[in-house]
Amino acid sequence: MHRRDLLLAGLILPFSTLPAFAQDPVIQVVKSATCGCCGAWEDHMRANGFSVDSQTVDDDVLHSIKGRLGITTDTASCHTAMIEGYVVEGHVPAEDVRKLLAERPEALGLSVPGMPIGSPGMEMGDEVEPYDTLLIAPDRSTTVFVSHS
Ligand code: CU
Ligand code: CU
Repeated sequence: MHRRDLLLAGLILPFSTLPAFAQDPVIQVVKSATCGCCGAWEDHMRANGFSVDSQTVDDDVLHSIKGRLGITTDTASCHTAMIEGYVVEGHVPAEDVRKLLAERPEALGLSVPGMPIGSPGMEMGDEVEPYDTLLIAPDRSTTVFVSHS
């Protein structure tokens, strides 16, 4: 039986309707075709127990998705991800996403603006740039969620 037939038969559920405790949390990623570090970040998420559902889109589509989700020029990075109603923008460490899901603050989500060297997926030898994972409030203002230095 093909997966689609199983779905139709009600024997398996589409990923998004499965309860979170049943399996690895699924993070949906949109990225542009020209981005290599996005794939490296996805590998980091997989290595830390997330299921990654990845989609490559045109730059203008990615840009409009960011806008719709409340990402501004101040919080923008390369890829944009969604998990359990939160947006995760850029090279956010998996442990910070875990903390977000555990604490469930009233927020749009998390961002690591830009692409700091040394953040997950942006490793360059021993070089490390200190950076902050920001919590984005519903009004799009930000506070430091986790400081990495
Ligand atoms: Cu990147
Ligand atoms: Cu990226």
